[in-house]
Amino acid sequence: MGKVAFATAVTCAAAACAVTALVVRQRMQSSVRWARIDTVTARVDVVMRELEERCATTVGKLRQLADAMAVEMHAGLAAEGASKLKMLISYVDNLPTGDEEGLFYALDLGGTNFRVLRVQLGGKEGRIVRQEFEEVSIPPHLMIGGSDELFDFIASALARFIASEGEDFHLPTGRQRELGFTFSFPVRQISIGSGTLVKWTKGFNIDATVGEDVVGELSRAMERQGLDMRVNDTIGTLAGGRYHDKDVVAAVILGTGTNAAYVERVEAIPKWQGLLPKSGETVINMEWGNFRSSHLPITEYDQALDDESLNPGEQIYEKLVSGMYLGEIFRRVLLRLAREAALFGETVPAKLEIPFSLRTPIMSAMHHDKSPDLTVVSTKLNEVLGISNTSLQTRKVVVQICDIIAKRSARLAAAGIVGIVKKVGRARDNAREGGSQLPRMVIAMDGGLYEHYMIFSESVQSTIKEILGEEASDSVVIKMANDGSGIGAALLAASHSHYLELEQDL
Ligand code: BGC
Repeated sequence: MGKVAFATAVTCAAAACAVTALVVRQRMQSSVRWARIDTVTARVDVVMRELEERCATTVGKLRQLADAMAVEMHAGLAAEGASKLKMLISYVDNLPTGDEEGLFYALDLGGTNFRVLRVQLGGKEGRIVRQEFEEVSIPPHLMIGGSDELFDFIASALARFIASEGEDFHLPTGRQRELGFTFSFPVRQISIGSGTLVKWTKGFNIDATVGEDVVGELSRAMERQGLDMRVNDTIGTLAGGRYHDKDVVAAVILGTGTNAAYVERVEAIPKWQGLLPKSGETVINMEWGNFRSSHLPITEYDQALDDESLNPGEQIYEKLVSGMYLGEIFRRVLLRLAREAALFGETVPAKLEIPFSLRTPIMSAMHHDKSPDLTVVSTKLNEVLGISNTSLQTRKVVVQICDIIAKRSARLAAAGIVGIVKKVGRARDNAREGGSQLPRMVIAMDGGLYEHYMIFSESVQSTIKEILGEEASDSVVIKMANDGSGIGAALLAASHSHYLELEQDL
């Protein structure tokens, strides 16, 4: 009995030891886990703090940037090559008034898609009577292939569209169809109807087109007459905006790429050569994507993105601001956190290593996630990058990165807009009678980034207020000019129509 009791006691003692060992092991494992979590958190904190600091855009810095933009605008108008801002003269000197009449076409090539469009204009009363458009996506191999292949593809889509013109559209007898061509890349013009490509941007890279007249390229591809204009999308947006509101002084595109155009007095353009237009004004395509300043907050992620891009050292402002790049900067930050702080566990998710695997619309969807446990972030991480089982803490870090990158971009865009407002406003200020109200200045805005990324567009607006102050910013109005670039090109074809000159001569 005593023996049994002893054996039982021994068994119990052994069991107790085993339990103690298990508890100790579990405690050790969990303290290792906690230690790991602590290390991950600490490393994440370091990277995040650094990101925040490097992306900082204090109002003081933004004011310096706005001033730098205005200074570069002056320099770019003074002489060719005097500034990173090309300040290209468009030779568009008659913006639409609303009186235009007739049938006009537009072709809008600006990114991975292009659009063909027709519009029937009915003059002051009828305005835009009818319009139709078709969108065609450009196969990726044509964006980096041969010039003829690209323009042949576009011309054939345009020819098909013209052939489908219905009876609702009327071309007066004896007239040719006139077409406004929106070509949303930097082009140096010497007249309204021609322009040589300075360089490709936004992922296009076709050496043969650089230095060539893009209208000529398209005309040759079309082998037909009647093509008589070329405009940049910002100029089209400006024209579309002015058609509806006479106070439109500038246009800004915040989309895949970014750019701005505005109306300048010819006397303020020292590099202008040749005859002065009757209107005394012309539209300047700033090509502000190429703006550069020591005040720009450039991080190691931006630097690496630029180094590995198709156009290193160029379009630096565009690479900080536009929709083509925001998702990619975001991916680069996540990748560093995955590598250095094991944000997504021991292994780095393979898809996160692929450049441009995170597009800006995905980033926007995560950034706008209002659910308490960030389910959209969780779903997108899983769907797009194959990352599952993230903690809420990790998902919060992801949203915080979106916030830092998107707001930096929006605030920089706002500084650019203020730069233009200063340049245009000063001229208007001088012309103003003493004591009268600040003139209303409307900026026509287009581009998917501004239109769809609400946190971004709200931040652009609030930052303009922050830089200019409540009162001055009241006179600056941003108006969405949807599809400005397409319809704007058709409107410019109308306000610069050959037939107008003929009619005036009669
Ligand atoms: C181009 C501009 C264009 C802008 C917006 C930039 O990449 O250089 O010409 O206006 O994108 O589409």
